[in-house]
Amino acid sequence: MFDKMILGILLIAIQAVLTTAVTGDNYVIDASVGFGRTFNGIGAISGGGATSKLLVNYPKQQQSEILDYLFKPNFGASLHIFKVEIGGDIQSTEGTEASHSHYGWDLDYTRGYEWWMLQEAKKRNPDIKLYGLPWGFPGWLRDTTDQPWKDIQTTADYVVSWIQGARSKYNLTIDYIGIWNESPYNVTYIKTLRKTLNKAGFSSTLIIASDQNGWKIAEDMAKDQELSDAIYALGSHYPDKKSTPLAQQTGKPLWASEDRVDQLARYSILHNKMLSCFTHLGLRALGCRMTLNENYVTGYMTSTVLWNVVVSYYFGLPWVNSGLMTAREPWSGYYDVRDSIWFTAHTTQFTKIGWKYLKHDSGAGMLSFGGSYVSLVSPDQQDFTLIIETIRFRSVWFQKCYVFAERNVGEFTFVTVPFFNIRLSNLHHNRAKQEYFKQLENIPVVDGMVQLQLKDSEVWTLSTISTSFKGYHPNVPEPQPFPTTYFEDFEGYNIGEEAYYFSQQIGSFEVASENNNKFMRQIVIDMPVHWFWCHIDNYNTSLNVFGDYNWSNFTASVSVSVTGENSTDWVFLASRVSAGGCRSLLGTGLFFYFNPKQQQYMLTTDLMRNNIIASGGVKNIKSDWNDLELTTNGNTVLGYINSNIVFNVKVPIEILNGWAAVGTFPYGYAGFDNFLVKKL
Ligand SMILES: *[C@@H]1O[C@H](CO)[C@@H](O)[C@H](O)[C@H]1NC(C)=O
Ligand SMILES: *[C@@H]1O[C@H](CO)[C@@H](O)[C@H](O)[C@H]1NC(C)=O
Ligand SMILES: *[C@@H]1O[C@H](CO)[C@@H](O)[C@H](O)[C@H]1NC(C)=O
Ligand SMILES: *[C@@H]1O[C@H](CO)[C@@H](O)[C@H](O)[C@H]1NC(C)=O
Ligand SMILES: *[C@@H]1O[C@H](CO)[C@@H](O)[C@H](O)[C@H]1NC(C)=O
Ligand SMILES: *[C@@H]1O[C@H](CO)[C@@H](O)[C@H](O)[C@H]1NC(C)=O
Repeated sequence: MFDKMILGILLIAIQAVLTTAVTGDNYVIDASVGFGRTFNGIGAISGGGATSKLLVNYPKQQQSEILDYLFKPNFGASLHIFKVEIGGDIQSTEGTEASHSHYGWDLDYTRGYEWWMLQEAKKRNPDIKLYGLPWGFPGWLRDTTDQPWKDIQTTADYVVSWIQGARSKYNLTIDYIGIWNESPYNVTYIKTLRKTLNKAGFSSTLIIASDQNGWKIAEDMAKDQELSDAIYALGSHYPDKKSTPLAQQTGKPLWASEDRVDQLARYSILHNKMLSCFTHLGLRALGCRMTLNENYVTGYMTSTVLWNVVVSYYFGLPWVNSGLMTAREPWSGYYDVRDSIWFTAHTTQFTKIGWKYLKHDSGAGMLSFGGSYVSLVSPDQQDFTLIIETIRFRSVWFQKCYVFAERNVGEFTFVTVPFFNIRLSNLHHNRAKQEYFKQLENIPVVDGMVQLQLKDSEVWTLSTISTSFKGYHPNVPEPQPFPTTYFEDFEGYNIGEEAYYFSQQIGSFEVASENNNKFMRQIVIDMPVHWFWCHIDNYNTSLNVFGDYNWSNFTASVSVSVTGENSTDWVFLASRVSAGGCRSLLGTGLFFYFNPKQQQYMLTTDLMRNNIIASGGVKNIKSDWNDLELTTNGNTVLGYINSNIVFNVKVPIEILNGWAAVGTFPYGYAGFDNFLVKKL
């Protein structure tokens, strides 16, 4: 039925040609009828949260290679937009990112790793657009309803101070700013933010609103001209390729301001088996590819920002398959350049922000046999790019996945454009036959026609742009397990830095110094404003995990200090901690709590302290630093304080493996030093 299709091209500035006879479906590409919306670029997100944590201490060479695959033009994903989290001291999916202002009296533009990532992106591509968004806010901005609107001007000043830091400290211009990730927006706040930006000299920093799921903001914009004027583009998360007529009628750009790299990631928690089936077939990037075309075709969205840019967080945390690439082994330097990089390159290497989409049905549309196509033209109308995907997810039946590759789905005939550069990817069901971003010979023009055989499960880019390149760095190190012994005394860090490998899940931990001794301090003293979908920051406890999730039998030890104003009561050292992310409170583990003020200890199997399996008093406590040690071996758990044994008990049978961890109850200052883990 679809054996022959004729696709004609009529491009004013290139070469006028005719559409020839039609058999079956006809997809006309014709710029003469005018252009559609303006393309705003393809981006990806670091943060939301703590997704780049393990990239920081990668060996320099591999670190630079990874950043090349993400940001370098004509090399890999070659992103147009880089979006980062504005840290809020809250758990924002894979961990906590530090705020640049933990308290009203504090301001520090060196915390965390997003500043560094922004610089690395800009270094590789000076044209990349930068975008910041808070997932949560520090406690001093919290109102009585747990929202950051205690004083709207103060919250706007806080966000603008982050933009100011980018400018003054790093000479970075923030192009776009968001409201509050997937949480309720406040109309007065959006207007106040606009005014505050203008007053501070950031009138060119544009507001994307509201980074919620859906297009509800369009309703408020329709009623409120000042709000509408304040907003540059409407941003929706995971819009499922759809936008509403009201959103379209605003006349503003529509963005998928967070969308999935992996269409199938949502199955990862409940349907692990399904996911592994998909992964085996190499379908990880399916969602990414369909989204990049279809967001425009069916949703009129002109920008797609993918979560996340790189999976640089521990195995054991949620959504470990959701990045453009994977780099979670700083100890070995191993990384994985995923197919998603090349599926993104099919668009990014052949377009630029400011290009025009061709109109629906004269350059953009769905293919009746499954798939989609979009065409874009450069503003000077000298360059043209057509991206066709025939990737169809045919069916999932129990745990079997079917993708029919190699079926001819259409024959496209192009009329003469002077010349096309062609890249092809296919998701063959046989992994060995898969190809990504392969350069094809220019297809010969015969009788003014170019013939193209299209198969199922393919992505084609045809373009006049000839600079595309499939970047490659050889000699990626082999994967290795986490080191069997690791010791940290924190002396090698600057004040305020986050220590390597410590993956803070609740609370915020940074290197501090007292009496010429550096140590790691938990610094959250007031309940922060959590992100709407993640409530664990409200439980007045902090957690920082470390090491290898698969470990069972190991010794962990740490020196702890709980002194001074705003200090916590209990500190803990833990092992076999089974959950992080927004599920941190629901996991199990062996949590060895110690309260030096009350001279007490307890051993619990949960972070909520519901199940206490040992407890008692402790003698001979020192006034400053005390040493905790915890050993789990098979079904035995041993705890020591200052080398004296305090318990030797049986481990409940279900607590088998997990990270080491430290933390506090409640929020409050605590020092941790001389941390050691040793696998038995
Ligand atoms: C927006 O913030 C103001 C100031 O705190 C508050 O009075 C108002 O109720 C908030 N609106 C919403 C919708 O939260
Ligand atoms: C800041 O960045 C701009 C480009 O964005 C550059 O022209 C300028 O020289 C930079 N200034 C400094 C002091 O590095
Ligand atoms: C932990 O074990 C799982 C299941 O055996 C394995 O897939 C995973 O790669 C391991 N993770 C690490 C960090 O070794
Ligand atoms: C403790 O907290 C109070 C109020 O939150 C603050 O005024 C004070 O400066 C804090 N002290 C220290 C040492 O952080
Ligand atoms: C932990 O140690 C116990 C006995 O001490 C052993 O049976 C078990 O296999 C060990 N687990 C791992 C993952 O090495
Ligand atoms: C956290 O716990 C401390 C000590 O028990 C208490 O003073 C404080 O009010 C608690 N904070 C919240 C937000 O529950």
